[in-house]
Amino acid sequence: SAAEKGGYDYFMLKEIAEQPRAVADTLLGRVTADGMLALDELRLPAEELRDVRKIVVVACGTSFHAGLIAKHAIERWSGMPCEVELASEFRYRDPILTRDTLVIVISQSGETMDTLMALRHAREQHSKVLAICNVNGATIPREADAVLYTHAGPEIAVASTKAFLTQLVACYLVALYLAQVRGTMPDREIARTIGLLETVPAHISEVLDTVEPVRELARSLVGERCVLFLGRHVGYPVALEGALKLKELAYMHAEGFAAGELKHGPIALIEPGLPVVVIVPSAAEQPLLHGKIVSNIQEIRARGAKTIVIAEQGDISVVPYADSLIAVPAVPTLLQPLVTTVPLQVFACELATAKGHDVDQPRNLAKSVTVE
Ligand code: G6P
Repeated sequence: SAAEKGGYDYFMLKEIAEQPRAVADTLLGRVTADGMLALDELRLPAEELRDVRKIVVVACGTSFHAGLIAKHAIERWSGMPCEVELASEFRYRDPILTRDTLVIVISQSGETMDTLMALRHAREQHSKVLAICNVNGATIPREADAVLYTHAGPEIAVASTKAFLTQLVACYLVALYLAQVRGTMPDREIARTIGLLETVPAHISEVLDTVEPVRELARSLVGERCVLFLGRHVGYPVALEGALKLKELAYMHAEGFAAGELKHGPIALIEPGLPVVVIVPSAAEQPLLHGKIVSNIQEIRARGAKTIVIAEQGDISVVPYADSLIAVPAVPTLLQPLVTTVPLQVFACELATAKGHDVDQPRNLAKSVTVE
C-alpha cells in the first residue's frame, strides 16, 4: 500500500531515501567514546583474529560488489591478503581454506543458497565464517561462527540499495576492527577514519538533495539500448553495480569495465552517441589514477561517446569532457563508493520507470534466491 511505501511510488525510492539513516544506524553503538571500535558482538576473540592469515569474501549479486570494495579496505587497513569470490563458483574449485582463513560471507537476506553452500563448505574445511547480514536470525547468520548485522531495516524492493551501502559500512568496520586488533594502523588513524564514516550520512543526503539532474538525464536516455560504466580502484565495483542495477531494472544491456581495460577490448564498443558513465577518483588523493581516467574520458569522447561523469565536487579538470557531470561530495577514496553509488541507483530507477517498468518487481528476478 501507499502507506507502507511512506508516500513514495515504489519501495525502491523509499529505500534509496532511507540510506543516510541506514548508514548511520549501522554505525550506531559500535564506536567507543574515544572513537575506536567496539565489536564484541562478533564473539570472535581478538586472539583468533590475530591468528588469521587470509581473508576470503564470498557473496552473490550486489553483495558480491560490496565484497570487491571490502577487499580494498581490508588489505589497506589490516594488511591481510583478501580474495573475493562469487559464492556460486567458490566450492566448485576446491578453494584453499585452512583454520587460519577467515571467510566473510555477505548476504542481505541471509538465505541465498549459493552463499549458504559456500559457508557450509568453508566450515567443513575448519575455516571461521563471519556473516554480514541484514536479516536477524536468518539461516546464514545462524550457521556462521560470527555475525555483524547491517541495520538497514527491511529491504523490500528486489534491487538492493540501502542494504548495499550498509554492507559497505559493515565491511569497513570489519577492516578497521582487524586493523585495531592486529595493530596495523595507529589508533588515531582508526578513530579519524571512523569519524569520517560518521560524516557520510550527511554527504549521502546532499547527493539525494541534488539528484534531480540525474533523473532528467535518465529520462533523456530512455531510447538507448546499451550503457557502459567505467571505474578504477573502488570505482570499478561501483561501475559493476551501476551496470547491474540497469540490467535488473531497465532490462538494458549494461556492462561495467575497469577503465584500464578499455584499451584491451571494450574501446571497440565505443560508437557515436553511446552513453558511458565514468566514475572518477579524487584528484587530490589519487592523482595518477585520476589523470589516467581523465584521458579515458577524452578517448571515448573523441570517438563520439556521450560521457556521463561522476566526479568529486570542485574537480574542474573533467568539465571540458563531460556531456553530463554529476558532482559528489569529497570523501576519502576508500569510502567513495558510499556516495558514488547513490546517483547510479537513482539513474537506473528513473530510467526503468521511464520505460514503464515496475522497479520493485523486475521480471525474472527474486529478492532472495533460495535455489542453487
Ligand atoms: C538476488 C537479488 C540481488 C541480490 C542477490 C544476493 O539475486 O535479486 O539483488 O544482490 O540475490 O542476495 P543476498 O540476500 O545474498 O545479498
